[in-house]
Amino acid sequence: MSSLIDRFGRRATDLRVSLTDRCNLRCSYCMPAEGLAWLPHQDVLSDDEIGHLLRIAVVDLGVTEIRFTGGEPLIRPGLLGIVAAAAALRPRPTLSVTTNGIGLTRLAKPLVDAGLDRVNVSLDTLRADRFATLTRRDRIEDVLAGLAAAHAAGLRPVKINSVLMRGVNDDEAPSLLRFALDHGFELRFIEQMPLDAQHGWRRDEMVTADEILAALQAEVTLRPDPAHRGAAPAETWLVDGWTGHDGQPAKVGVIASVTRPFCGACDRTRLTADGQIRNCLFAQDETDLRALLRAGAPDGEIADRWRAAMWGKRAGHGIDDPTFLQPDRPMSAIGG
Ligand code: GTP
Ligand code: 5AD
Ligand code: SF4
Repeated sequence: MSSLIDRFGRRATDLRVSLTDRCNLRCSYCMPAEGLAWLPHQDVLSDDEIGHLLRIAVVDLGVTEIRFTGGEPLIRPGLLGIVAAAAALRPRPTLSVTTNGIGLTRLAKPLVDAGLDRVNVSLDTLRADRFATLTRRDRIEDVLAGLAAAHAAGLRPVKINSVLMRGVNDDEAPSLLRFALDHGFELRFIEQMPLDAQHGWRRDEMVTADEILAALQAEVTLRPDPAHRGAAPAETWLVDGWTGHDGQPAKVGVIASVTRPFCGACDRTRLTADGQIRNCLFAQDETDLRALLRAGAPDGEIADRWRAAMWGKRAGHGIDDPTFLQPDRPMSAIGG
């Protein structure tokens, strides 16, 4: 087996699979109120086609971790079957989902039974009025119940992702942290990236990692986490005086994609819902595996094409380059 290596020596062992570009929320920093032009059904990979590509990824290309994303992955009808098929692969990959949390009350337990190991839930505000404005849907109670259901189903750690936006929710860093600590969830704050469908991102409006840490340190004492970070996007800190879900010191993280890029350690490859490989969140090019698959190409040829796609990965996202171009696909169609 030869794995997914790029010319800078990075090895992609972590596959992010977008199961749909659709979503049941309309977060204003992600998409417009009316939604987007969704992928036509015939372009979206079937459950079996996804299973086939997952097998190639794990068996032929050395992928060890698979994360299902969206849009909102929990609205994909075949989700449980896809997770079960992934869990049956050998060597068994680690399986996780990144979700807005709506649907977890119904699906957390069946997902665990199907083989899911971990879940990350997006929650940017604890205030119901703000949640309704920000996501354009009045559903914060569903998300909170979903978080509780994930915990009750035994998923550990349950992580929360929060994107802070200036003048919108940037006063909530301490309250989000308090909420996470109280419930044994692991919170990560995310710097907003230029991936919105509206192309409205402005660097000077972004809340930076330094600002987030300063706001937290006004409330709690943080110590750098001595654990090895590896390829994790989040830098983590231990929160003095608090215990986490595992009895160890509680953690809080910051994903500083913009001000402290971690591209040099990146171990990711991405598959979109319509069967395209992206070697980076910010890639300009995609590699069409759907066409190969539907033409009946042998697994070896599909694996070779995937390797070639990763070999061409750039050193970094280049957000700070004067020539930087936001990718055509928005976050919701790439899978974050
Ligand atoms: P863990 O394995 O639990 O650490 O998950 P994760 O943080 O890798 O995944 P998640 O889906 O929760 O993503 C959290 C944030 O990190 C989102 O905003 C993602 O877009 C961002 N993210 C994930 N992968 C990458 C990446 O390769 N590059 C950059 N810049 N951001 C990423
Ligand atoms: N920048 C950073 N994170 C984003 N997310 C959505 N859009 C952006 C963006 N432009 C987050 C979601 C979710 C995760 C998958 O990515 O809030 O937590
Ligand atoms: Fe949906 Fe996630 Fe985009 Fe919000 S950020 S609209 S939850 S895909």
